[in-house]
Amino acid sequence: MSAPPKAAIWDAPEHTLAKIAILRAYLQAWFKILGNKVPRDMLYIDGFAGPGSYDNGSDGSPIVAIKAAADARNSSGGQWKAKTIRMVFVESDAARFDLLKSKVASYHQPPGMTVQCINDEFASAFGVIKRQHQDAFVSSLPLFAFLDPFGVKGVPFRCLKEILFSETSEVFMLLDTHGMERVRTAGEKAGYEKILDEVFGGAVWREISFTGDTRLNCRKILDAYRRQLVSSAGAKFTFPFEMRKTNGNVSYHLLFATKHVKGIEKMKEAMRSVDKTFVFIDGRSGQAFLFAPDDPVVIARDAENYFNQQCSGRERGYDDLNSWILQETPYMRPDKILNKIKARQGIEFVTVGGEVVKLSHRAIRWTDVEKIKFRDRLTPPETGLFGQE
Ligand SMILES: C[S@@+](CC[C@H](N)C(=O)[O-])C[C@H]1O[C@@H](n2cnc3c(N)ncnc32)[C@H](O)[C@@H]1O
Repeated sequence: MSAPPKAAIWDAPEHTLAKIAILRAYLQAWFKILGNKVPRDMLYIDGFAGPGSYDNGSDGSPIVAIKAAADARNSSGGQWKAKTIRMVFVESDAARFDLLKSKVASYHQPPGMTVQCINDEFASAFGVIKRQHQDAFVSSLPLFAFLDPFGVKGVPFRCLKEILFSETSEVFMLLDTHGMERVRTAGEKAGYEKILDEVFGGAVWREISFTGDTRLNCRKILDAYRRQLVSSAGAKFTFPFEMRKTNGNVSYHLLFATKHVKGIEKMKEAMRSVDKTFVFIDGRSGQAFLFAPDDPVVIARDAENYFNQQCSGRERGYDDLNSWILQETPYMRPDKILNKIKARQGIEFVTVGGEVVKLSHRAIRWTDVEKIKFRDRLTPPETGLFGQE
């Protein structure tokens, strides 16, 4: 990450605009879907809210959230069910906090919404938020946290665990993998152990086998963090993407964590709606390519590699495969990629009832499939890896 700006308000660079556009697109879906569904309050937390706008005129993340919520409510055509939308914005810097407060005040607060601005560090404000909005942390009240710090520090893992405790919570965060790598290599003088222990919520980062390659190390940090979100914080799905500088160096990662398939699908759609200043990253294989959801050429290349390298000669449960496709590929719909392999020789589908289905022309309902058996290597069809689109 580049050095944080010193001024209270600054110009939004291109990658910041992309990040905010992804947030906007996701929140439009989040407020619309959940606001039209549940007659409950909704809680939105922006832990690093900033001044509310940028010098070059764009809205900052708190205003983007207010507008997304108001739009969802206004365009619901009478279907709106949610009760109060509770917005909580935390900003530690006094000058930025003042700007934030006046920006929020200048924006007409829509009905059914409360806005609370807290001038504190996120980690200490978190205790207050938890006490005041206890119901959101223990019940099925929709909770979304956007955590966008400058740099490595500021988001203790314990806060993520508490946010992700409930079944209906989600986190979208900036993970400064590059900064963590710098802290690690700076060693004792940066107090690296304490910092990384707090970020990871323990010593798991010490198990990473670091190399001399910074980019690879950033990916390994990302990978370990994702595993930690699942194993220790209770996320079911995580989805990362990589922000790069124009010279190709990794700047940081954006990471989304949820417990719901639909959350992953909507986040991918949100990413798709934005320009390509970012890169989709497969954290496991260490490969990265421009985010190109459902590009048939990329599907063919990626799926062929994956199925041959990781599935050949094995059985994979449908849920396992489904989860891989959602989290480790840019594709929006798992069925789309599975439909492509349906016709391949060397694949058998085993249904929940135990029936083995081989024929390509048989209609397969994916909900009926329990596992998929892969022969040693897939036989490429004559038309090419996955055929012409
Ligand atoms: C990347 S900026 C946020 C930009 C904002 N989310 C947006 O998209 O418009 C990070 C903000 O967090 C504030 N900040 C830094 N450390 C913080 C902390 N520990 N707790 C809360 N805010 C913090 C900074 O002053 C800065 O305004």
